[in-house]
Amino acid sequence: MNMKMYQGFNREQLEERMRMMENRFEQHKAQSLKLDMSRGKPSKEQLDLSDGLFKNITNFESEDGIDCRNYGVIDGLPEMKRIFAQMLEVDQDELIVGDSSSLNMMYDVIARAYNHGLMNAEPWSRLDKIKFLCPCPGYDRHFAICELFGIEMITIPMNEDGPDMDMVEALVAEDRSIKGIWCVPKYSNPTGIIYSDEVVKRLAHMRTKANDFRVFWDNAYCVHHLYEENSLLNILAECKKAGNADRVFMFASTAKISYAGAGVAAMAASRDNIRHTLGQIAIQTINPNKVNHLLHARFFKDLDGIKEHMKKHAAILRPKFETVTSILKKNLENLNIARWTTPRGGYFISLDVPEGCARKVVAKAREAGVTLTKAGATFPYGIEPEDKNIRLAPSFPTPAELASAIEIVCTCIELVALEKILLNEVNR
Ligand SMILES: Cc1ncc(COP(=O)(O)O)c(C=O)c1O
Repeated sequence: MNMKMYQGFNREQLEERMRMMENRFEQHKAQSLKLDMSRGKPSKEQLDLSDGLFKNITNFESEDGIDCRNYGVIDGLPEMKRIFAQMLEVDQDELIVGDSSSLNMMYDVIARAYNHGLMNAEPWSRLDKIKFLCPCPGYDRHFAICELFGIEMITIPMNEDGPDMDMVEALVAEDRSIKGIWCVPKYSNPTGIIYSDEVVKRLAHMRTKANDFRVFWDNAYCVHHLYEENSLLNILAECKKAGNADRVFMFASTAKISYAGAGVAAMAASRDNIRHTLGQIAIQTINPNKVNHLLHARFFKDLDGIKEHMKKHAAILRPKFETVTSILKKNLENLNIARWTTPRGGYFISLDVPEGCARKVVAKAREAGVTLTKAGATFPYGIEPEDKNIRLAPSFPTPAELASAIEIVCTCIELVALEKILLNEVNR
């Protein structure tokens, strides 16, 4: 926001505008709304799309004759592995299909790295300090895992094509305690950006001081297009080309394809990483939930089945995203007090308000009945020094609710921005 806020308004006009917004805010409050757009949850309509999972259950036998009701098959049902292998563009023996949550798989990788060590590496618990790079704004639950394990988080600015790679390369080359980087490479949470080929290649090729450095490649939104299909360079293939095959752990799930919280998750990596991981997982469990794998594999059949299904999700989500961006545009365009992303996929819109205003906007919106993601949540430790980013999650409310919620958010942004300007004219 380099342009002057409320360009062309004099003090009287600003005061007049403030009074107008205060009136509008009181009207919003009088509606006693209760709208929650804090988390990226699918709506009921989206979840209903997958109820076919439970049709045609005549038996529990897999294509290979595995009785899915019984113990065994630690790496997941072959037909479900086939689908994830297509989705993540890896071979089936570079893959483990687990239970319902990919976040759980990420957590477990870190817990095992602490307790037992990654392949050919000592347990992180024996080292004085562990650090992770956190491109920001990013996904709060990644940061929460780091916080729980006492991992020091280093904020990396996010560009239009991925993290600031000059900074990433410089840091990992010098510091042995930097063991990982969090990446949501496609339709990133919350900015919606897609990592460029160059960024993927640099991540794969860069020299790291730690020999057990890993890229945590959380491809949660790999098939979640709102419009055209966008591609992403295959980081495992790039790591192999660079002679760093073991550098990456990829993750995905059907949480936002079938059921959030009751879908199927998977992780992919080099064969050696997978072998090493399976050796440890085999102590933790006898098998994942193969019945759920079977239901999913029968319902979706293959990647084309998933793609067709995702078009139905897009038809529900697209108008919601467009409602948000068109209301933001209608109210705030030309005022120079907000900037927002217009993602081509994923679950979020990232909204920037003037510095020092995000927390106040979120608090004001709550006063009028709209729950937004906590300001600061998209940064390590829940603190954004500039206090300007707000994550909007349009998926769960109905379009009508969403329209009311965003109108309220716009009023709140104006109120907080006007207050800032009127209190401190110098900032204009
Ligand atoms: C980037 C990202 N990764 C992972 C998850 C959670 O995935 P799962 O339900 O498979 O644990 C989310 C959910 O919002 C997400 O945004």
